Amino acid sequence: MYPPGAGAARIAPLDLARLLAAVGGPDAMWTDIRVVEQTASTNEDVLKLGRDGAPEGLVIAAESQTAGRGRQGRSWQTRPSGALTFSVLLRPESVPQAARGWMPLLAGVATARAVRQVAAVDARLKWPNDVLLGGGKLAGILAEQSGDAIVVGIGINVLGRDHDLPIATATSLERGGAGQTDRTDLLAEILRQLEHWYLRWRETGSGDAAGSGLRPEYVLLCATLGRLVRVQLPGERMLTGTAVDVDGAGQLLIRRDGGDVVAVSAGDVIHVR
Ligand code: BTN
Repeated sequence: MYPPGAGAARIAPLDLARLLAAVGGPDAMWTDIRVVEQTASTNEDVLKLGRDGAPEGLVIAAESQTAGRGRQGRSWQTRPSGALTFSVLLRPESVPQAARGWMPLLAGVATARAVRQVAAVDARLKWPNDVLLGGGKLAGILAEQSGDAIVVGIGINVLGRDHDLPIATATSLERGGAGQTDRTDLLAEILRQLEHWYLRWRETGSGDAAGSGLRPEYVLLCATLGRLVRVQLPGERMLTGTAVDVDGAGQLLIRRDGGDVVAVSAGDVIHVR
C-alpha cells in the first residue's frame, strides 16, 4: 500500500488541451492522447487496445493507477496525482527483432533528456532504463511487447519526500530539488523526445542504435558504464564485474574478474562503485 497521508499536497492536474496543442494534431506522431483519472495500469490498457488493432501513436496518462506494473513482475506504486504515469503504443515493424532490445533504452534516453530539460536536474540512467537522480530512482520504465506492438510505460515520482516515497531507494523531483515540476510540460517534452529518438532509430531501417546517434546519447547519460556492478539475473543468479559496453541488441556487457565478457539482456543492476 502507498503510505497513509500521501497525496495531500496540491498539484495541477494533467491538462489534455495543453498536451494536444503541444504534441497532438493531424500530422503529429501522437494521434490519440487520453488522460484518465484512475485506472489499474496504463500499460495494461494500452496493451489491450494494441491487441485490438490500435495504431501506433496512442498515449494514455493516468492521474493514479491501482495496479501499476513494474519490471521483473514487480508492482509499481506511485502517489496519486503526485507522479506522472503514462504508456504509449509503438509499432516498430521495420526494425528487426534483434534490435528491438534498444526500445527500452531509447525510452530511458527520452525520459532522462526531458527531465533534465524541464526540471533542470542532473538525471542519469542506470542500465537498462532506470532514471536516477542523486543516486535514488526517480523513474521506472516498463516496455512490453505483444506481437508487433511495443508498449512503453513510464512512471516518474514528481512529489514525495523521504517518508512518503514508496520504497527507500526511490526519490522524486521534489526531493531532488526541482520543486513542483509541471507534469503536463514534462509529459509533452517526453513525448517530443520519444518521437525524435524513435523516428531517427526506426529510419535507419535496421534499428541501428549507433548509426541513429542513440547509442552515443545513451552512453553520455548512462551512469552504469565503467562501474563495478553486481547484477541480479532472473532466477536469483548473481554476476559481478565491470560494465564495459552496451551491444547492438541493448544488452549490457560485463567483464568478469577472469577477463571474459558476459552479455546481460535482463536483470537488476547495483552500482557497487
Ligand atoms: C520499473 O519497475 O522500474 C518500471 C516501472 C514502470 C511503471 C510505469 S507507470 C505507467 C506504466 N503503467 C504501468 O503499470 N507501469 C508503467
